[in-house]
Amino acid sequence: MSSSFALRRSLDHLAEVFVDADDASAAPAASGPGEVGPQAAAAGGAVSFRKVSKFYPSSGGAVHALADISLEVPAGSIFGIIGRSGAGKSSLLRTINRLEKPSSGQVIVDGVDIGTLGEAELVALRRRIGMIFQHFNLLSAKTVYENVALPLQVAGVPRAEVTRRVNELLALVGLQDKHHVRPARLSGGQKQRVGIARALATGPEILLCDEATSALDPETTQSILQLLRDINRRLGITVILITHEMSVIREIADQVLVLEQGRIAELGAVWKVFGAPQHEATRALLAPLQHGLPDDLQTRLVKEAPQAGRYEQILQLSYSGEGGLEPDLVRIGQALPGVRLLHGGVDRIQGHAHGRLLLAVDGAAVLPDLHALTQGAGAIAHHIEVLGYVPESVHSH
Ligand SMILES: Nc1ncnc2c1ncn2[C@@H]1O[C@H](COP(=O)(O)OP(=O)(O)OP(=O)(O)O)[C@@H](O)[C@H]1O
Ligand SMILES: [Mg+2]
Repeated sequence: MSSSFALRRSLDHLAEVFVDADDASAAPAASGPGEVGPQAAAAGGAVSFRKVSKFYPSSGGAVHALADISLEVPAGSIFGIIGRSGAGKSSLLRTINRLEKPSSGQVIVDGVDIGTLGEAELVALRRRIGMIFQHFNLLSAKTVYENVALPLQVAGVPRAEVTRRVNELLALVGLQDKHHVRPARLSGGQKQRVGIARALATGPEILLCDEATSALDPETTQSILQLLRDINRRLGITVILITHEMSVIREIADQVLVLEQGRIAELGAVWKVFGAPQHEATRALLAPLQHGLPDDLQTRLVKEAPQAGRYEQILQLSYSGEGGLEPDLVRIGQALPGVRLLHGGVDRIQGHAHGRLLLAVDGAAVLPDLHALTQGAGAIAHHIEVLGYVPESVHSH
């Protein structure tokens, strides 16, 4: 994996540059023209929303896109935002760099209410907040190098410094051999790498990602996620990302916010929210990740135990990640003699096992008290449910 080795090397190098820059500068927050630098990166990146609401005027009456959002995004964390289409995700993200102005409430970045900033201060703020998009938003007439150089040139960074920085950034994202290529000749993953390099050019402390991997295939998505995670860990940049892919959240986010019709439906550590989703919107979003009953069994499942003939009872054991409880096949076998595993899966999120197992037990077997099997030290799952009954053996069709 020489390319990922090269990436690590350049990240290490960039991290050193950041540290050096910090040492050299007593006032890293001040970034006038020519002073834009990665030194800002290690400085902070905390965001607070205080009672943020947003109305959009429209012909059919105002659209209430955000309603009374209050929450904190810790500096240096990876914060995921999910929700159905139209839930207000992009609106919320765009209040952080003030592409969207809240109708009421405050957005506070590193202790500063950004609603109080003047024009020049807003420009400086936006240099501390990088943004990447689903469709990359690259300038097609410019080369890769020119796309990444642009924010530095706009900021008045001296030419030699621009060259040095762009070389570094393109090495960081693994595009050192694409300097003179135009975006049309790049793959989707490569375009997003250019987008990331451009977003990092001014040394931001926050990176906003709106559906940054939605246009990419699964393998490319993985490599971009790896890059984002490395950027977060090595450079300490706060990453706030919107995605429709729950696996992206599961993989890299620390905390997740579920928005529903502009309101907070759920908010918390990913393993908690994904392990035991409380809100209907969260459950619906997570449905693709769940191991539900396979179709062939679903069609044969009946709710009442058959009066005659052989049948099997179908049990679902759920794991929420709470208290370190994991599926222990020996203890499950002891509690439910003759049990067979039909279907299921367990994921690990932030070190917590969560998932479901679907099990079959002979219909003639008398089941123990299932509730008792979810309690205390003897628990074999967080929740156990009899889903129904399948006539004859599940093998017989
Ligand atoms: N500029 C605008 N003018 C009027 N209404 C808007 C505008 N931008 C967004 N809206 C409305 O605000 C609501 C929230 O939109 P937003 O784009 O924040 O949703 P989203 O969660 O990002 O959705 P998606 O997943 O489809 O991107 C929607 O009802 C949308 O139609
Ligand atoms: Mg959106």
